[in-house]
Amino acid sequence: MSTEPTTIRWEQDETGVVTLVLDDPDQSANTMNQAFKASLTAVTDRLEAERDSVRGVIFTSAKKTFFAGGDLRELIAVTPETAQFAFEAGQGIKRDLRRIETLGKPVVAAINGAALGGGYEIALACHHRVALDGSSTKIGLPEVTLGLLPAGGGVTRTVRLLGIADALLKVLLQGTQYNPKRALENGLIHEVAADRDELLAKARAFIDANPEAQQPWDKPGYRIPGGTPANPKFAANLPAFPANLKKQTNGAPYPAPRNILAAAVEGSQVDFETAQTIEARYFTELVSGQTSKNMTQAFFFDLQAVNSGANRPKGIEPRKVTKVAVLGAGMMGAGIAYSCARAGIEVVLKDVSAEAAAKGKAYSEKLCAKAVSRGRTTQDKADALLARITPATDPQDVVGCDAVIEAVFEDPALKHKVFQEIQDVVEPDALLCSNTSTLPITLLSEGVARPADFIGLHFFSPVDKMPLVEIIKGERTSHEALARAFDLVRQINKTPIVVNDSRGFFTSRVIGHFINEGVAMVGEGIEPASVEQAAAQAGYPAKVLSLMDELTLTLPRKIRNESKRAIEEAGGTWATHPAEAVIDRMVDEFGRPGRSGGAGFYEYGEDGKRGRLWPGLREHFTRDGASIPFEDMKERMLFSEALDTVRLVEEGVLTSVADANIGSIMGIGFPAWTGGILQYINGYEGGLPGFVARARELAERYGDRFLPPALLVEKAEKGETFTDA
Ligand code: NAI
Repeated sequence: MSTEPTTIRWEQDETGVVTLVLDDPDQSANTMNQAFKASLTAVTDRLEAERDSVRGVIFTSAKKTFFAGGDLRELIAVTPETAQFAFEAGQGIKRDLRRIETLGKPVVAAINGAALGGGYEIALACHHRVALDGSSTKIGLPEVTLGLLPAGGGVTRTVRLLGIADALLKVLLQGTQYNPKRALENGLIHEVAADRDELLAKARAFIDANPEAQQPWDKPGYRIPGGTPANPKFAANLPAFPANLKKQTNGAPYPAPRNILAAAVEGSQVDFETAQTIEARYFTELVSGQTSKNMTQAFFFDLQAVNSGANRPKGIEPRKVTKVAVLGAGMMGAGIAYSCARAGIEVVLKDVSAEAAAKGKAYSEKLCAKAVSRGRTTQDKADALLARITPATDPQDVVGCDAVIEAVFEDPALKHKVFQEIQDVVEPDALLCSNTSTLPITLLSEGVARPADFIGLHFFSPVDKMPLVEIIKGERTSHEALARAFDLVRQINKTPIVVNDSRGFFTSRVIGHFINEGVAMVGEGIEPASVEQAAAQAGYPAKVLSLMDELTLTLPRKIRNESKRAIEEAGGTWATHPAEAVIDRMVDEFGRPGRSGGAGFYEYGEDGKRGRLWPGLREHFTRDGASIPFEDMKERMLFSEALDTVRLVEEGVLTSVADANIGSIMGIGFPAWTGGILQYINGYEGGLPGFVARARELAERYGDRFLPPALLVEKAEKGETFTDA
């Protein structure tokens, strides 16, 4: 019997080896869509029917990636009502993979590109896994980062392959995407191949040598490596897992890690088939819940929209930068220089003195040495990267640069001066960027000869780690400059969001509300440790008072004074925030300006290490009985940021929902479970009307700053949500 499969091509050679080529005719990547499911069943039936003429099976793909995983468009649409259907659809794939795995013939995955999620689950059902070396081969189960768990046998098989602890910590809970070398070291694959011929040769060699291959877990006497909770020695370690989990999620509402842990532990104590059913039940709960929808929307759909240039002006030829002048070799300039050089761009790193410029380059030397020692790069590549960075002091040294990124002190006069020094030396059409974190771009552009080429490129610290860059379009910035800035950010492998000009833009302005709310609560007499706990449980990666210390308390004061002056000069009135009085007392009365000053909301050791919360806070601020509901504490932080984001949409500073969502998570630590700052409003209980009602309640209790902006009320009344469509 043979059904002609459409998505999986059957190619059998004269020796009896069947190569199953994954090649979806309708999509650029293979996914677990209906066509794949039907094809998998068809080839499984055929393998069983023609078993005697089959000597072995190789799974590989005709696409650039091996297999992309679940069809997220299908998954995001699952509701509690349709969850049972999704559950059953998944069972079919698992049954087929299990039939192939137990066919009694050797099955090899020849992984020729990314095998993430469902792709790695197919590979796990094979007896042997060989991966093609190269930067595009990524291996792992990243479902947790979308609020899901791998339900195609991923939990069941990794637990049986690696043991519960390694499966959880190395694969399932972090969602790490491994390169072939690290996948091999961590036991996810068996071999690495240098090229496609070797990949298939190694697959065949395994088939030749193992005519009766079996999975370890199907062999008699098999035990899960490292034991299971049934073993008293293992059971003694079990409480460490929930504790670890708590550390990972900080008590924030991330259901996926909890379900993964439960599926792994419960599944380890039963037979394979039952384990797969347990895994599927926990998956069904996740896929029909709001968090996985939020995270899938953000980390898949929104991120794709942002990176693919939904916001880049159309019809402008892409351009690459070849040589960039980085002005200012301080903390930011040094990081920007490294990121550019890593992407192959020549860098002139300029500062006021040779020492300062060399110190900026030394930062790259440190990062390179670390990358080499960890095996993330080779010495040759590191040397080449460093050779691309030239420290400089003379304005003439920037000759030939086709882009400039300025990162000197946050002072408009100084920024004007450094641009004037170099604007006639660089290429006549060089892109002119400022990394200012707060100053209006239009204002800065007035000091340069070509304001149309001038744009804000706001990096985040530490630059080498932070993936986001906020591009700020000034009033006079041209479409060409915006397109070129976008291309430059993509060229250095970062994610660009685009906003219009405003003081503090999107990110710096919005994060200020989070901090102010936390500080205001201290001022209201609430126990500081509870404030920190509320931030953690809301899902913020940094606690609010410790973040305030990092940024220093004097910085918001400076920004506040400048903003206040600007608003008052324009005839407006400054709305005083209750946090201001607390910050003033901390700095002026107690001499605690933050971490760099050695004292802030926390105490710091000689080595700068953070100690405990300053006991003086309790003495000077905390009042017995000044507590408020914990839910209010969390939501004051989340709402204050979300409400100002709506105001930014109203003001036309933000023009894309995807940019707002991605920028908030990747730039300023808005909790990922929300799917981003506008998705938080969409997904709030009761939708937009629910959010508006809650904002009004908070306004009643804590002040008018929580009153919902008109746009939000209007959208709620019309039954709309925030979308780009
Ligand atoms: P920094 O103080 O570490 O570095 C500034 C550097 O500029 C110093 O090395 C200084 O010697 C140099 N410099 C001063 N005058 C110069 C001149 N005439 N020519 C060349 N170099 C000169 O400051 P940081 O933190 O790197 O900040 C730089 C800019 O980046 C500021 O506008 C800041 O607002 C912005 N920014 C800072 C972030 C942060 O987290 N620190 C985040 C995003 C933006």
